[in-house]
Amino acid sequence: SGKYDYLIVGAGLFGATFAFEAKKQGKKCLVIDRRGHIGGNVYCEEVEGINVHKYGAHIFHTNNKEIWDYVNQFVEFNRYTNSPVANYNGEIYNLPFNMNTFNKLWGVVTPQEAKEKIEAQKAEAGIEKPQNLEEQAISLVGTDIYEKLIKGYTEKQWGRKATELPAFIIKRLPVRFTYDNNYFNDKYQGIPIGGYNVIVEKMLEGIDIRLNTDFFAKKDELEALADKTVFTGMIDEYYEYKFGKLEYRSLKFEQEQMDTSNYQGNAVVNYTDRETPYTRIIEHKHFEFGTQDKTVITKEYPSEWSPGDEPYYPINDDKNTQLYKQYKELADKEDKVIFGGRLGTYKYYDMHQVIAAALTAAEKELT
Ligand code: FDA
Repeated sequence: SGKYDYLIVGAGLFGATFAFEAKKQGKKCLVIDRRGHIGGNVYCEEVEGINVHKYGAHIFHTNNKEIWDYVNQFVEFNRYTNSPVANYNGEIYNLPFNMNTFNKLWGVVTPQEAKEKIEAQKAEAGIEKPQNLEEQAISLVGTDIYEKLIKGYTEKQWGRKATELPAFIIKRLPVRFTYDNNYFNDKYQGIPIGGYNVIVEKMLEGIDIRLNTDFFAKKDELEALADKTVFTGMIDEYYEYKFGKLEYRSLKFEQEQMDTSNYQGNAVVNYTDRETPYTRIIEHKHFEFGTQDKTVITKEYPSEWSPGDEPYYPINDDKNTQLYKQYKELADKEDKVIFGGRLGTYKYYDMHQVIAAALTAAEKELT
């Protein structure tokens, strides 16, 4: 038995939540991360007084009162409400698809008129058994919404034509017949005042941290420091890819600082035409109602993932799901290692979900 109760690999939300709970129970933890900062993908870098979301835009939202109260013990949240807009060749539409969108598209005013328009377009397309993503989307929302707001964006995201993508990718396309631009349906939503780092810094207060430390570079030495390991890195890497590599989708970010106080008037603008190479531009200051003279924007480009790139989104198709299952069987047999988080369990988690998962893991382990 070593000096620490837990070696926690990964200072993201899973690792930090687990560490905070363990500390409360009097356990001693060592948190390591291969990056030069804590926070994992919710990490923000301050530029010109603006919290820049370095690994993609992060908006906290949940219906779970317990998780909302939990995060509010660390930080106060502002009243930011996610209301992205779409830019289609210079035409601006509100998202998610709602009465504001329909009014702009067709001039309709009442929900009845909007429904009739969509139904007429669906009927005209006459698709009974959708054979691909394009047919699926048109059968759900009609041609106009598909052509202007779905097609180009989706093709950029997947790097393939919508007619060559399977129909099952889009199961539902929510349409809202009210003038409500709030993207999320959740009861609680906001951005932490001072940024996400405040949460993670408070969670890890008083806990030993080693940055720029890759678990695999000194696995034996590090594991010997603690009784147990909580591992939030890639599960296939942990097992030296013995069954093969799990696949991901990645993103490329292009950050620019500008000498203007307001570049696009909204935090999130989706570019839904096919010609613009990026899918979104994030203007970070609007997440926190920033009043600085300058601004920072990030263009987001979807990208293929190859080993060494940041693994952002797991690809939960049959092949990868089967592969993960093989790794999970090994993981379930470990009695000194707990796997958690989005990479450790090969699962897309929102922030509130990964915190909930860490609390469950901590409760199981610590009581
Ligand atoms: P996370 O990846 O944050 O942490 C894992 C850590 O482990 C990393 O810091 C990594 O460096 C470290 N690590 C890995 N291997 C290691 C090794 N071998 N040695 C040492 N350290 C190692 N959610 C939401 O609620 N609202 C939102 O708007 C968004 N937006 C969003 C945008 C994008 C582009 C993505 C990819 C994700 C989101 N999310 C989100 C999801 C959110 O990012 C996610 O829920 C959490 O960051 C997951 O936290 P984890 O701790 O699981 O992983």
